[in-house]
Amino acid sequence: MKTYLVTGGAGFIGSNFIHYMLKKHQDIRIINVDKLTYAGNLENLKGCENNENYEFVHADICDLAAVKEIFSKNEIDYVVNFAAESHVDRSIREPEVFVKTNVAGTVNLLNVAKDFWTIGEDEYRAGCKFLQISTDEVYGSLGQTGYFMETTPLCPHSPYSASKAGADMLVLAYFDTYKFPVNITRCSNNYGPYQFPEKLIPLMINNALNQKSLPVYGDGLNIRDWLYVEDHCKAVDMVIRDGKIGEVYNIGGHNERTNIDIVKTILAYIKELTGSLVDETLITYVKDRKGHDRRYGIAPDKIRKDLGWTPETTFDVGIKKTIKWYLENEGWVKNITNGQYKEYYQKMYGDR
Ligand code: NAD
Ligand code: DAU
Repeated sequence: MKTYLVTGGAGFIGSNFIHYMLKKHQDIRIINVDKLTYAGNLENLKGCENNENYEFVHADICDLAAVKEIFSKNEIDYVVNFAAESHVDRSIREPEVFVKTNVAGTVNLLNVAKDFWTIGEDEYRAGCKFLQISTDEVYGSLGQTGYFMETTPLCPHSPYSASKAGADMLVLAYFDTYKFPVNITRCSNNYGPYQFPEKLIPLMINNALNQKSLPVYGDGLNIRDWLYVEDHCKAVDMVIRDGKIGEVYNIGGHNERTNIDIVKTILAYIKELTGSLVDETLITYVKDRKGHDRRYGIAPDKIRKDLGWTPETTFDVGIKKTIKWYLENEGWVKNITNGQYKEYYQKMYGDR
């Protein structure tokens, strides 16, 4: 039975990953370590608590003693590092915490895993692996043509993407210097259940359902490449099992859309699903994000060819599933915007 140390498992992608893995594999153990920042929510893991193969540890990945304790109590086979400060707008306001968690936290995990897994000089316990969950944002911004390849030079622009790029460089340095067994995945924009309503898709769904204005940055023509979260989880599972040590894998499904197209699609589906009277007059163009990357587009050829990964959920299906989830889980969103996170949410987003 393999034991996975999943960090940041109470957040959006981490919680989807834990649900996915516990459903798919009966012969694994998952230890979820999460600091429970504003973005971490144990409600996302409802149903897992009673699974005897799952355990939650409330800790910060920057806390050396806490991470050591987890490793000394458990024989960890894989580290899957989702834990991060993940929101670009927040990184523009408060860069320091991004460096702390995304860079220093990653180094702390690398060091502890390396100490516990070492069996000789540059030799590690068989089969162990450190997977760093990175992002396409480390590559910077594309023009109208071309795609991000694994070989594209890193050129991050926001404090968030710079901190993720810093972590990537460290992870690769541990492979080059110590032959430490690592992989990195760089995925495009995810959407789906449990995404905190500060990110484009859940924010727009929530605002539209509440007849609030829909703040579109700049001209609305920035492009993101959207992937349903479960398809990301499937790719991560494959990279842990079959990814070649030291390799980077891009993950994306060639689903590029402008932000304004996303917002209009959400409005149309909300109308179709609920019969409500929302319309495009809710759309409000607002001041652009500082340093706003124009276009992201992932070339997923390597993970398709080497590991056989393909996305399963089309955007039409995924966005409808996502809207339905938010409709059926209005209490989850209210808990964030009006409940325990109200103060944070209002400080960041005012009345949005
Ligand atoms: P999220 O903000 O929803 O969740 C982050 C989780 O990490 C939260 O549960 C939070 O409590 C936890 N956390 C934060 N700081 C911590 C610390 N110091 N110690 C322990 N836990 C801590 O983020 P997400 O959208 O689920 O992203 C997860 C990972 O995937 C991140 O590394 C992000 O860079 C990457 N990623 C995200 C996307 C996307 O579209 N959301 C796309 C590609 C890659
Ligand atoms: O590409 C992967 C990245 O995707 C991840 O690494 C990040 O963790 C994740 O947050 C996401 O970053 P983005 O900046 O692309 O996502 P966000 O949802 O914040 O914004 C998506 C696009 O929508 C971006 O062009 C900015 C725009 N936007 C966003 C918000 C929140 C708006 O126009 N209005 C908004 O209110």
